[in-house]
Amino acid sequence: MALVTTKEMFKKAYENKYAIGAFNINNMEIIQGVTRGCKAKNSSVILQVSTGALKYAHPYYLKAMVDAAIRETNIDIALHLDHGPDFESVKTVVENGFTSVMFDGSHHDYETNVKLTKDVVAYAHERGVVVEAELGQLAGIEDDVNVSAENATFTDPDQAVDFVSRTGIDSLAVAIGTSHGAYKFKGEARLDFERLTAITQKLTAAGFEKFPIVLHGASSVDPEMIRICNENGGSLKGAAGIPAEMLRRATTLGVCKINMDTDIRLSATAAIRKFFNDKPEAFDPRGYLTEARDYIQTLVENKIDDVLGCANSLLG
Ligand code: G3H
Ligand code: 13P
Ligand code: ZN
Repeated sequence: MALVTTKEMFKKAYENKYAIGAFNINNMEIIQGVTRGCKAKNSSVILQVSTGALKYAHPYYLKAMVDAAIRETNIDIALHLDHGPDFESVKTVVENGFTSVMFDGSHHDYETNVKLTKDVVAYAHERGVVVEAELGQLAGIEDDVNVSAENATFTDPDQAVDFVSRTGIDSLAVAIGTSHGAYKFKGEARLDFERLTAITQKLTAAGFEKFPIVLHGASSVDPEMIRICNENGGSLKGAAGIPAEMLRRATTLGVCKINMDTDIRLSATAAIRKFFNDKPEAFDPRGYLTEARDYIQTLVENKIDDVLGCANSLLG
């Protein structure tokens, strides 16, 4: 068993209306928690690495630990660069054996985003690596945001078709109301499903059938984890995420990859805060890191059942 690209994963996911979880990895315990959770559910997985993670752990360590996870679990894993800011970061990870990259040019003007993304696609495809890119800017729908402000930020369905056809990307990250971090909504959670439907329909009509859509900023921010954090010395006020049922609905509308990092952070932090509160005399890192790893594994198993629907998604 070796690392795979996301191509086959997304094809199966689109056809069967589920999504593959893309979990951010930063250390051994996160990799073990995520991949053991996926193993328990016979699920494929995308392990994604931000530039911050590359800096923290070094690509050599991350690649070696992911190879070890494949040996241990025998599941299908894609190793993905998350929010690659430039060509150099893409080159670094491709040279280190990653199978998938995100180039994030969403903060550039449209034509610059097209040009930079195209260059990345040419480089990556020549080396058998697939490319995700982003159009639109992630932001929550605030109660007081008017329609024109939403239109300025969210992914435009016609532009999405133009972007996919001109860049040759393999998957598209869209902005429909999700956002990064633990504070996604001040009021009621809302995603722009009409926009998502229009993006999928227009891509299909333009000949991009079963084109995989990606949702960033898709953590649900479990109130139970917030409670454990706050009851054990934390101070996380007003945290809110995307409800599971909204994410499940998205998987029926072309979303094949759902990104989650905040939920992993919250689970690990809840576990460790509780551990130290219960055992103030403890100081062996294996004690609290075991708790964190177990919480992450439980989180991932629940995500597969309640959000992603990707149990038994191994490529076989
Ligand atoms: O999308 C951002 C991810 O949560 C990664 O965060 O850059 O702090 O590693 P990071
Ligand atoms: P969350 O902050 O919602 O976990 O999103 C993570 C993400 O999109 C990583 O790219
Ligand atoms: Zn993201």
